[in-house]
Amino acid sequence: MADGYSKEDGPGEAPPGMMGGLIYCDALTEVTGRARNILEKWSDVPASEVVEHVNEMRDRAYKVFPWPSIGLYQFLSIYMLDFDCYPEILESIKKGAFFLDLGCCFAQEVRQVILDGAPPANVFGADLSSDFMNLGYDLFLDQDKLGARFIQSDIFDDQSALRTEFHGRLDVIHASNFFHVWEWGKTIEAAKHAVSLLSSKPGSVILGTQVGTKRARKVIFPHMKGRSAFFQNPTTWKRLWDVVQQDMGIQLDVQVTESYIPDKDEFQWPEELEFTRLHFVITRVS
Ligand SMILES: C[S@@+](CC[C@H](N)C(=O)[O-])C[C@H]1O[C@@H](n2cnc3c(N)ncnc32)[C@H](O)[C@@H]1O
Repeated sequence: MADGYSKEDGPGEAPPGMMGGLIYCDALTEVTGRARNILEKWSDVPASEVVEHVNEMRDRAYKVFPWPSIGLYQFLSIYMLDFDCYPEILESIKKGAFFLDLGCCFAQEVRQVILDGAPPANVFGADLSSDFMNLGYDLFLDQDKLGARFIQSDIFDDQSALRTEFHGRLDVIHASNFFHVWEWGKTIEAAKHAVSLLSSKPGSVILGTQVGTKRARKVIFPHMKGRSAFFQNPTTWKRLWDVVQQDMGIQLDVQVTESYIPDKDEFQWPEELEFTRLHFVITRVS
């Protein structure tokens, strides 16, 4: 143990950090995120009602479980649109590829691919909590028309519908703000289970974005009863996938880039944590 950091926690590059500061921000007075387009074009929420509707849904979801991504309205982002490979992925789903949004919560990305023309029969969402997936219907007002299937499952449960039915069947897994919710060892386990859902065909892919820290470290969340997670940087994230490849005897191409969270000052997070966003595309080679 040095500086409060123990090796079992992962390849930490800095002592554990305490997640003080804002994990639940003031109610929005304006909705500018990309999901606004979905709410107006797909859900037919009148423009004048979008703000109130979004605020009400955020608060209902936060009562289910206080994920910072809910408290901070990150579900209004449509992360896949930031990836250069999105058009290609969308075309592949239109041609029959199976797409899963893993840890989907409200499942905004599921709505985006369907709004962009993906056949609902090829589109799936999975989450530990069916409450979140049901709240997705309430947020997007589309239970009668969506057509995508949602699968309530714990990624760690080998008897779950996700693990038993979808083993080796998925071509594209989107997983944003998902792999950053556990400590190092459990994240490796989650990553292996995600890979086991992928088709063994070269080209099947896991992509997403998550919060990281410039110097990788354990981060403790007092507001979630002291729950902790390992926040990665590109070096540790690649190292984690090296372990996955070695243990599973497979080859992956791991691409990861880092960006700085532009509004972290406004969130009042501890300066020393230097929060980032990691953007990753992990493609099966063999
Ligand atoms: C931080 S939220 C991110 C939600 C969404 N992907 C987003 O970016 O808006 C993490 C999600 O993972 C789900 N989750 C947590 N543990 C899980 C598990 N063991 N199996 C499946 N989903 C899980 C949570 O219920 C939650 O919806």
